[in-house]
Amino acid sequence: MGKGTIVLAYSGGLDTSICIPLLRERYGYDRVVTVVVDVGQPEADLRAAVEKGQKLADHHVTIDAREQFVDGYVFPSLRANGSYEGYPLGTALARPLIAGETVKVALKEGATAVGHGCTGRGNDQLRFDFTIRSAGLEVVAPIRELNLTREWEIEYARKHGIPVPSVSKENPYSVDENCWNRSIEGGRLEDPAFHPPEGIFRWTVSPEKAADRPEMVTITFEAGIPVALNGNRMQGYDLVQEMNLRAGRNGVGRNDMIEDRILGLKAREVYEHPAATALLVAHRDIEQLVLTRQELAFKAMVDAKWSELAYMGLVREPLFLALNAFIGTTQERVNGTVDLRLYKGSAVVVGRSSPHAIYSTDLVSFDSTTIDQCHAEGVSRYHGIQAQFLERLRKPR
Ligand code: ARG
Repeated sequence: MGKGTIVLAYSGGLDTSICIPLLRERYGYDRVVTVVVDVGQPEADLRAAVEKGQKLADHHVTIDAREQFVDGYVFPSLRANGSYEGYPLGTALARPLIAGETVKVALKEGATAVGHGCTGRGNDQLRFDFTIRSAGLEVVAPIRELNLTREWEIEYARKHGIPVPSVSKENPYSVDENCWNRSIEGGRLEDPAFHPPEGIFRWTVSPEKAADRPEMVTITFEAGIPVALNGNRMQGYDLVQEMNLRAGRNGVGRNDMIEDRILGLKAREVYEHPAATALLVAHRDIEQLVLTRQELAFKAMVDAKWSELAYMGLVREPLFLALNAFIGTTQERVNGTVDLRLYKGSAVVVGRSSPHAIYSTDLVSFDSTTIDQCHAEGVSRYHGIQAQFLERLRKPR
């Protein structure tokens, strides 16, 4: 009598594939259920993962979570100007959703444990574990627990008839992809001095190869959420994909950085996120038009903390929920349109308007007399009064 059923968060890759026989042989589970969660990864990868899951596991479940990912994770991140050290949080946002959907299957299947294929070096183990343990389920992480090497994994996969992905010399990279971000790491990129080869990019052309004429796109925001492109209302997922296409073909959204992982390790990361770059630029700009100076300054701190917690996968942390409530209040006025110019790697705002703008041409214009300039004289007299005082003490006349 074995340990019953375990549900495995499955990607179709080598790590999660060898987990299937390992969970039976080394851990003694009778039944392995694989779950693939679709968050906008390439269709061919998804199809291959589903086929492998159906073949290798006792039971397989596929969940289409694309809309849920965009509406429930990507757009909240946009409202928070979500960015960790300059990385717009793709993988980090998807993990709690993938883990959460896997947990739901586990509960339905009567399983007491959820498995994942994360290694003991990265961030994903912490994000998965947090969501699984929060649901009161046990975590089983064979790659981490058995301290496996790539070589051993390939050998084990061959013995179990698991097709091994061709990790060729030209393409030795580890790629993680969802509709908000494509992440490329490993191989020669592990040398921070090595220049990223052009061939690793899929969503963006190099700025030099982009069109010689700029492309304009108008984004409509409602409550901090983009709802239309050039006046055409779209579902969130479709809007993000359309923006990926437009910004990507103009070379917008590449990023090569050194990132501080949760454990403290520094890692070299290369990212592509055309829609994220363009929408973040537009969202920050319209916030600047409608929020007060006080709100903007405070929200910058809230956004940074939100991003750090999202990066860590701590999306059930009470502080995270409280920050979301604050952000939600500020976003009620983030309505209007932003005109964006996409050109050879840059996304630049060239115009914006909002019914909630706290901007008045009449007050600020050189041509207007609405402001009686004489009134500013009194403000100016006391501006920096303490420093004025000290300066005069230092230099007595
Ligand atoms: N560094 C990013 C994160 O922790 C992305 C990691 C993606 N993994 C990969 N194998 N490319 O969120």
